Amino acid sequence: MEMGRRIAVREASLVIDPAFAIADVDDRMFGSFVEHMGRCVYGGIYEREGTSIRTDVLELVRELGVTIVRYPGGNFVSGYDWEDGIGPREQRPRRLELAWRSIEPNLVGTDEFLAWARAAGAQPMLAVNMGTRGLDAARRLVEYCNAPRGTEWADRRPVEEPYGVPVWCIGNEMDGPWQLGHKDAVTYGKLANETGKAMRLVDPSIELVVCGSSHARMPTFGAWEDTVLDLAWDVADHISLHTYFDPGRFETPEAFLAAPRELDRMIDTVAATADAVAARKRSRRRVSLSVDEWNVWYQSLPWRRTDRPFEHAPELIEDTYTVTDALVVGSTLITLLRHADRVRMACLAQLVNVIAPIRTLDGGPAWRQTTFFPFRDAALHGRGTVLRVEPEGPTYPTEGDEAVPVLEATAVHGEGTLTLFAVNRDTEPLELSAVLRCAASVLEHSVLADEDPAAANTAEAPERVGPRVLTGARIDGERLRATLPPRSWNVLRLRV
Ligand code: AHR
Repeated sequence: MEMGRRIAVREASLVIDPAFAIADVDDRMFGSFVEHMGRCVYGGIYEREGTSIRTDVLELVRELGVTIVRYPGGNFVSGYDWEDGIGPREQRPRRLELAWRSIEPNLVGTDEFLAWARAAGAQPMLAVNMGTRGLDAARRLVEYCNAPRGTEWADRRPVEEPYGVPVWCIGNEMDGPWQLGHKDAVTYGKLANETGKAMRLVDPSIELVVCGSSHARMPTFGAWEDTVLDLAWDVADHISLHTYFDPGRFETPEAFLAAPRELDRMIDTVAATADAVAARKRSRRRVSLSVDEWNVWYQSLPWRRTDRPFEHAPELIEDTYTVTDALVVGSTLITLLRHADRVRMACLAQLVNVIAPIRTLDGGPAWRQTTFFPFRDAALHGRGTVLRVEPEGPTYPTEGDEAVPVLEATAVHGEGTLTLFAVNRDTEPLELSAVLRCAASVLEHSVLADEDPAAANTAEAPERVGPRVLTGARIDGERLRATLPPRSWNVLRLRV
């Protein structure tokens, strides 16, 4: 790797000062996403037949520490009639599912998902169909889920007490021409406003997410957010951002490792756009950002054939993740944490099998992909207040990014603990020296790295890659010193 600045030993520094607070981390930063797509639901959170929860997956989901789960899509939701998925299972219709060319038996629907989410210890976040349906279907679903007994839809619920679903997405990726019922920004903005208004009349306590852009390279990016927020300002608590990093889009591993910087810029742009709308409206309200789909996704691999037959739960985009992919996921988590003042929710897309940290075989085992580990670390130790650490160190150039820092880092100050999350993007070890502005002792330095950057966990070798504990991190006077191995994800935990 060619460095922008020549130094003999590769070193990087930062400052850890509990007074340099960015914001408290919202628990919902560690969300995920379950879509009726491929084998995420059937063969993922439920057995393929859709009759019972997969308990091995449930245990892994609990271990992963997912706090909120978005459901049922994704592109799927834009053609979904939620009423198909309630009531006696034997009476539910089998439908052609157009987003993913599947057969949807509707054996898992809203009630089964909510039962699963409760068992997983995660909050639900439901999306409503703004493609082929609209306001009426949305308000009835809120009534079904959140209204007390005594009216038609609430009385159809199989459980007495309302589910109290707290967060609702008004549609999915409505800016995308691939979306069933795709809309322009004005049409969607007006519809989102009226739909959100109706949903809130049913339950005033709910939080609403309006659709932002599907990714930052959309031709409408920026203008879409401006128009939608202008028209749906009164209902928008959050605006969504989606971002997938396709390794095939980057010329070199170094460029791919820098991909989360795209999300960094996207967050800044959407926040600025939302604030410009606020200024026009003479409002001091800061709309929060919901990064409710993000991940690495090998989109350049052939994955969406239109000539295949409609099938139940086909194998779709079951990407196998490498150590390099895990570093990109780790850097993305660092990016999200650094924006904790603006990003309140984020969902790793998806949860099981479909571009997921957990994989399964039908009737076989479930295992953790490489990307499982940085997410689990962040969900477990990334609770508290994010600190501004201002890393300094070597950089390298990529096309379109002159100075990518070798070190990506952030710190979270919890109850009596301080956790530094750090990625070393370099192929060489990096000597970290952190000025500590509080008394501290080292608890643990755990690392995910491998001599083979393409190493992965598979059904045959489910534990090939995993974190290990390093010795050597130490407090030296006022400094924390540690060696970050080449191309590594690091979690340095301190007692303070
Ligand atoms: O997560 C897979 C798909 O990616 C979702 O259905 C869609 O919202 C996005 O384009």
